[in-house]
Amino acid sequence: MSVASGPIIVGVPKETVIGEKRVSLVPDAVSKLKGLSVALEQCAGEAAGFPDSAYSEKGVLISPNASALYELADIILKVQPPNSAEAAFFKEGSILVSFLYPLSNLEAVKKLASRKVTAFAMELMPRISRAQSMDALSSQATTSGYKAVLLAADSLPKFFPMLMTAAGTIPPAKVFVVGAGVAGLQAIAVARRLGAVVEAYDVRPVAKEQVASLGAKFVELPVEAKDAQTAGGYAKAQSEDFYKKQQQLLAEHAWASDVVITTALVPGQRAPILISEDAVNGMRPGSVIVDLAAEQGGNCALTEPNKSVVKYGVTILGPLNLPSTMAPQASALYSRNVTSFLLAMIKDGTLNIDTKDDLIRGPLVTRNGEVLHEPTKKALGVTQ
Ligand code: NAI
Repeated sequence: MSVASGPIIVGVPKETVIGEKRVSLVPDAVSKLKGLSVALEQCAGEAAGFPDSAYSEKGVLISPNASALYELADIILKVQPPNSAEAAFFKEGSILVSFLYPLSNLEAVKKLASRKVTAFAMELMPRISRAQSMDALSSQATTSGYKAVLLAADSLPKFFPMLMTAAGTIPPAKVFVVGAGVAGLQAIAVARRLGAVVEAYDVRPVAKEQVASLGAKFVELPVEAKDAQTAGGYAKAQSEDFYKKQQQLLAEHAWASDVVITTALVPGQRAPILISEDAVNGMRPGSVIVDLAAEQGGNCALTEPNKSVVKYGVTILGPLNLPSTMAPQASALYSRNVTSFLLAMIKDGTLNIDTKDDLIRGPLVTRNGEVLHEPTKKALGVTQ
């Protein structure tokens, strides 16, 4: 179906979530949007290191405030889901491309639907090869995995590499990575580069080869996950009994490690608890846990999101929004994801939203006043 004719204006608002430094479009990505105009809310790129002047040089119009920008824009590119107040700013019939997490943002979704916004959630992008350059979860998880290792190395009162000095030999640190998806694999690679000895575990058997190819040892547990993986490559939720066994078996590996980095997620669910209080209690004092699943409740029973706590002598970090701590490059990667997605919908300078295409239908949450994402529809009690 074809919508919107005439010049299309892409709007880049300033992110309003506290601590969010990323911007949805970096100046270098502007020229990729050939045939479209771009408008930026004043100072939207500043926290990511991109002043307004870097955008004006690329022909971007600077809007003095959010309401002026939303009034102008046919397409809004965002990083964080809009809150209800932002959702109310949208021009009727406009388009949103952003992380949206609709189930956690039901009020905003309702408002977007009432404004007849066509809203796309970047986290719902299907994992098909055509969509690889649009995979924002992966691009941002790469920065989290990298940063998690640096945080661990900074908190651990030990060297990561083996050192042979005249004053004696220092053994390498032992790092255990739980969850070998995008963030976990990046963490393995970085920890290896810092000289640590790394082992890793994942519930999906296909991860074994990927872990080994990075020079880490894959931990096999004598407990087999049923039907571990979805067609899209994600882990499937397992039974309580399975998680209990996993906790017991993982504890032994945690006890032998200086650092545990956890990244295990199951889409749409609370993160599974894999590192129990007993596992923490048995770790050597001074050891470190970095729990990248803190945003989804944490993989460690003692994680406190957005805090660094010491329990049984073990430092447990529950960092939130690590990609924002690397805002210039995280924004550049995200820009690539959203521009690739937009370009897939633009044919001959006009927008063509083909809802029969998986690439377009997958991330589509609202359109023409309707909520189309099934789990969100259910949560809102919408029946048809
Ligand atoms: P994610 O962020 O949802 O989860 C992280 C990891 O936690 C996953 O590897 C998952 O298997 C693991 N996990 C979940 N429950 C666990 C448990 N109980 N114990 C241990 N580990 C557990 O996943 P992510 O990182 O976004 O992607 C997972 C996989 O998807 C990738 O490794 C890759 O194989 C695939 N993928 C495919 C893409 C494509 O084809 N375009 C793009 C990106 C990823």
